[in-house]
Amino acid sequence: MHIEQNISLKPYNTFGIETNAKYFISVSNIEELKDVLKHKNYTNKLILGGGSNMLLTKDIEGLVVHVNIKGISVIDESDDHVIVKANSGENWHEFVLWCLKNDYGGLENLSLIPGNVGTAPIQNIGAYGVELKDTFVSCEAISLEDQSLKTFNKEDCNFGYRNSIFKNEAKGKYVITNVAFKLTKQNHQLNTGYGAIISELKTMGIKAATIQEVSKAVIAIRESKLPNPKEIGNSGSFFKNPVISIELFHEIRKNFEDIPSYPISKSEVKIPAGWLIEKAGFKGKRFGDYGVHKNQALVLVNYGNAKGEDILKLAKLIQKTVKRLFNISIEAEVNVL
Ligand code: EPU
Repeated sequence: MHIEQNISLKPYNTFGIETNAKYFISVSNIEELKDVLKHKNYTNKLILGGGSNMLLTKDIEGLVVHVNIKGISVIDESDDHVIVKANSGENWHEFVLWCLKNDYGGLENLSLIPGNVGTAPIQNIGAYGVELKDTFVSCEAISLEDQSLKTFNKEDCNFGYRNSIFKNEAKGKYVITNVAFKLTKQNHQLNTGYGAIISELKTMGIKAATIQEVSKAVIAIRESKLPNPKEIGNSGSFFKNPVISIELFHEIRKNFEDIPSYPISKSEVKIPAGWLIEKAGFKGKRFGDYGVHKNQALVLVNYGNAKGEDILKLAKLIQKTVKRLFNISIEAEVNVL
């Protein structure tokens, strides 16, 4: 077991924040992972996947365990479906591309989402009308406490909007080692109803899209709206879209006729936080090395050497301003460490 000391975490978080891990190890198989978790000398452990949903605001005093377990395999199949199991260290988008190359359908709308397979269930990643839970079958995870292996099936995971058991009861208790998905081999069920996908496919001149074309459309939309973390540090949507009461929605609409909303129930609607932040005047605002992205106000960015504390301060200012203007509390989607 090779534990390194004082390692920069800049390459391991998509925000590109410079902080150090006092101790660091990258594990590439389950046995190695179990050995590390058993190690009594390092009581404080931080499990790190693709680092795409976190904001580091300080050095990590304990041991950072980078889960880098690779491998994709088909574990079952019928004429119509295939069950694909991907290990947690696989890059999410590369996994989606592998599925598309094999003509397995179901994940195409989730193209180009940063991060790794193993962390995708934690926040039930979602985009353009599809969520991970739609194709999720089960995942295996190792208990931090006793290193036992546990299988979580879909019901166990309690998936919700950007939410799962791994953000609640099971938070900090398990390391997900692989995830299994049920994908289609034929008669693919396309999800092309999302406005941006309809118009992108039209621009591409496509009438009856294949799953590969839907993926291309999603990639084009994401590239036009969302900054590439390899060029500008970011963590995707920094906040969740809030759900508010119909009464509050009607109240706000008196002053803002153009407020967008998605129905949730008879008494509630979801509001795009990006719209609220844009109306609060933050879209495209830059404060030195950090700011709010110019094409999508929900994304906070690091232009170079921003500190996590600076971005956190900006996030708090945005939350305060949105609360003051609209009486809506917006909640961070990323984990602040
Ligand atoms: N909007 C604005 N200004 C902005 C951004 C958005 O007015 O700067 C309004 C517009 O009315 C727009 C609407 O918000 O039509 C929705 O915008 P968009 O389609 O970009 O979606 P979103 O609700 O802002 C969510 C996810 C994204 C996902 C997109 C597409 C959350 C927190 N975010 O964003 O996920 O890609 O839908 O499905 O639910 C992520 O989680 O990291 C992420 C990027």
